[in-house]
Amino acid sequence: MSAVRGEFSSRFGFIMAAAGSAVGLGNIWGFPTQTASNGGAAFLVAYLVLAFFLAYPALMAELMIGRHGQANAVSSLQKISNKPWQKHFAFAVGFGGILCAGFILSFYAIVAGWMLSATAEPIATLVGANTASTWLSEQSLTRNIIFTMIFIVLTVAIISRGVENGIEKWSKRLMPALLGILFALIAYVMTQDGAMEGLKAYLVPDFSSIFDAKLLVSALGQAFFSLSLGTSVMIIYGSYISKKENLVSLGAYVTLIDVFIAFVAGLLIIPAMYVAQAQGVEIFSATTGKLLSEDTLVFQVLPALFDGMGEVGLFVGFSFFALMSIAALTSSISMLEAPVSYTVERFGMKRVQATWLIGALIAIVSITIVCNLSSLFGLVITLTTKVAQPLLGLMCCIFVGWIWYRGSLLKAIQEGNPEVHNTLFWKIWPWYTKFVCPLAIGMVFLHSLLS
Ligand code: PHE
Repeated sequence: MSAVRGEFSSRFGFIMAAAGSAVGLGNIWGFPTQTASNGGAAFLVAYLVLAFFLAYPALMAELMIGRHGQANAVSSLQKISNKPWQKHFAFAVGFGGILCAGFILSFYAIVAGWMLSATAEPIATLVGANTASTWLSEQSLTRNIIFTMIFIVLTVAIISRGVENGIEKWSKRLMPALLGILFALIAYVMTQDGAMEGLKAYLVPDFSSIFDAKLLVSALGQAFFSLSLGTSVMIIYGSYISKKENLVSLGAYVTLIDVFIAFVAGLLIIPAMYVAQAQGVEIFSATTGKLLSEDTLVFQVLPALFDGMGEVGLFVGFSFFALMSIAALTSSISMLEAPVSYTVERFGMKRVQATWLIGALIAIVSITIVCNLSSLFGLVITLTTKVAQPLLGLMCCIFVGWIWYRGSLLKAIQEGNPEVHNTLFWKIWPWYTKFVCPLAIGMVFLHSLLS
């Protein structure tokens, strides 16, 4: 194990870094796309309920495990295990999470690459390089490979420098800028034809579809994906939090920021879809009424919106996609940190070497997906975010509820929060993670298998 572990230098630094991990493409690409393809407002309602009532308690479980363990996910889970079988189980869950983080990064880098090329496109248009601008805006194998690789190299470059220099510094600057531009764009969209229809689709739920199995599994997966759960990422971030901090409120801040940004992104993208449609862009199929292209939806809808703004649109488009690329980076660095911190602590490898080695492995998987986009992309997303993340998150709840001795758990949570045993949180959360979370997550899966 390395002698000195990195630690976040301040409370604000941690919140920004953990929120930086949570807020990313999941909020601005994943959430609106899922909302649009799962019936609008009904999905929003399911998402909000699942995020607060299942994902937040699971986030607390992961942060607690990490801060108590002060190590990578495998060692942290093993520290609270008492019997040999529990230690094996700990390895399976911790290592499974690390693998899951690696696979998520491999598809995430592709979407982030699309963000990077969408950032470069307005610059090409501005300087009159029309061929380049067309190349940047159209799907092609070469373009996808180049930008995916650029994104992976950026992620590796940051992570090889460690916690304080890399993760924290980047995360602190981003959030205010991102929110600012989102609000400005929402104000603009609302002035356009079609926006009100979109707003209605986003905010007025059709309650009859809320218990639809596909909708529930997607909303659960989206909530876990958005809070970076089941990937060992939050265990590791937990391990970098000082024992002086109050974890209960830190976790609540991170959840609130994450859900809020997803909600706000929906306020932009869903109305923007209807605006684009009013302008003649084909969004829904004329025959089936289904979304035409889910994965590339935002890359169709937003540029159409920016085009309508004239010259200013170039600057707006550039700023928006640049911010999105940075948001993607603060998430991708957390994904890469999962396997890297494990390799450094378990095998004593140097951070820089470990980072480049794992980065190379992930690049190979990414390129394989890029080359087989139609068959692999959706499959990897479904397996990681809709299956592995909720199940591994559920396992972490089982660790906290069934394996960790209650007295030791209380001591761990009292650090930085000495009065916690008198709070509502301590009265509810332990039994909640023990019974309600595993049962509820299990039921969503069962429901989807049965239907
Ligand atoms: N939560 C991130 C997002 O919304 C994605 C992520 C998933 C990050 C898993 C880390 C681990 O974009």
